[in-house]
Amino acid sequence: MDKLIIKGGKELFGSVEIGGAKNAAVAVLPAAIMASKSICVIDNIPEIEDIQCEERIIESLGCKITRVKNSVTIDSTMLKSVKADTDDVRKMRASYYLIGALLGRFKKASVELPGGCPIGVRPIDQHIKGFEALGARVNIEHGTIIVEADRLIGTNIYFDVVSVGATINVMLAATLAEGTTVLENAAKEPHVVDVANFLNTMGANIKGAGTDVIRIVGVKELIGCNYSVIPDQIEAGTYMVAAAACGGSVTINNVIPKHLESISAKLVEMGAEVIELDDSVTVKSKKNLKGVNIKTLPYPGFPTDVQQPMSTLLCVSQGRSIINESIFECRFKHIDELKKMGAHIKVEGRIAIIDGVKKLTGAVVKASDLRAGAAMVIAGLIAEGSTEVTSIEHIDRGYPHIENKFKALGADIVRASQD
Ligand code: EPZ
Repeated sequence: MDKLIIKGGKELFGSVEIGGAKNAAVAVLPAAIMASKSICVIDNIPEIEDIQCEERIIESLGCKITRVKNSVTIDSTMLKSVKADTDDVRKMRASYYLIGALLGRFKKASVELPGGCPIGVRPIDQHIKGFEALGARVNIEHGTIIVEADRLIGTNIYFDVVSVGATINVMLAATLAEGTTVLENAAKEPHVVDVANFLNTMGANIKGAGTDVIRIVGVKELIGCNYSVIPDQIEAGTYMVAAAACGGSVTINNVIPKHLESISAKLVEMGAEVIELDDSVTVKSKKNLKGVNIKTLPYPGFPTDVQQPMSTLLCVSQGRSIINESIFECRFKHIDELKKMGAHIKVEGRIAIIDGVKKLTGAVVKASDLRAGAAMVIAGLIAEGSTEVTSIEHIDRGYPHIENKFKALGADIVRASQD
């Protein structure tokens, strides 16, 4: 197990390259196995643990995967098994996309229930509602979800909750169903659109992704294709917040500024300067920003995945800030770690009340989950003295080369063995 040792107080200057979107890539790879007679070559796949984990799962099904840096080739022509039951399945949330992909291609799947960040109950009832609406029988036995259908028939499905996972998972299965499926109250995240675009490149017939109504006309088969995943909105947002917190001037390259609008707007509201170009944003900050209120919402609202990094910035902003985490019921595990560094925060259910302090002081803190880990790295970057962030395997799930990227911006940060 590794840790990061950070000496805080350095301003950040320079530029950082953003990788492919984790939450798109972890859905595109399972979608690729729906091509039964040809291969997919997918570029801009991030080098993160969740992807390596998912590649192992897909290989365990009988697919052939080769990777050259950020480009992954998937050959699913020999795919036979519909049973994903390795330990890796339980290590991440997105392994459940294999259900929709296998159900679409083979009309059956048997996948261990997923793992993922401990940020709430994270039920899958909306996924099940969608699969059953398409005609599948769904059973959960011994921690495994087993789905099978004689036929998948298109239908209208209204999601009771806006769910990224359910929207993508049911879209996967509906792509190869007979007839038309209409998903209502669908999630609109950029990664939902990216998966729909990938499926259409494979020959699917999907319209409306990015709105709350997605229309899918089932096709007979999907053909392998070449594709490139969109940039990671959340990785980009994390570096934007870090730049605002540390002070200085950082250009975040290889982004889609439109996807970052809610984050840019909040940083401007706090007194930072955000300059948008075609595929980059530059954040300039003199620190000591004004506190603001944040309510996390489905896209295009403020993303819940940037809430934790943002809470660190609010700890050293002026005045009182209120965070309303409306998506997940338990996404404040990092608050106790921030308090060890001198933060003044009161948590009441899904509300965090933050009173800005002059400075944080270095301490030994832990990463409780992926985005909490990012929040603690930012805390270390701005704290007086030295901070050790432990359990950084959580961070490695979603942030490629995090210490190298911050070091290149001027931070004093090194990776060391936790032992
Ligand atoms: C995806 O999780 C992301 N993960 C999460 O990012 C992200 O926080 C979340 O979407 C919201 O944007 C991946 O894409 C792999 P949801 P997902 O289904 O799909 C409830 C990260 O840090 N719900 O949109 O699991 C659920 O409890 C990770 O990269 C149901 O009630 O999120 C939550 O309150 C963390 N029933 C809300 O909906 C269901 O069947 C949104 O969850 C499904 C979800």
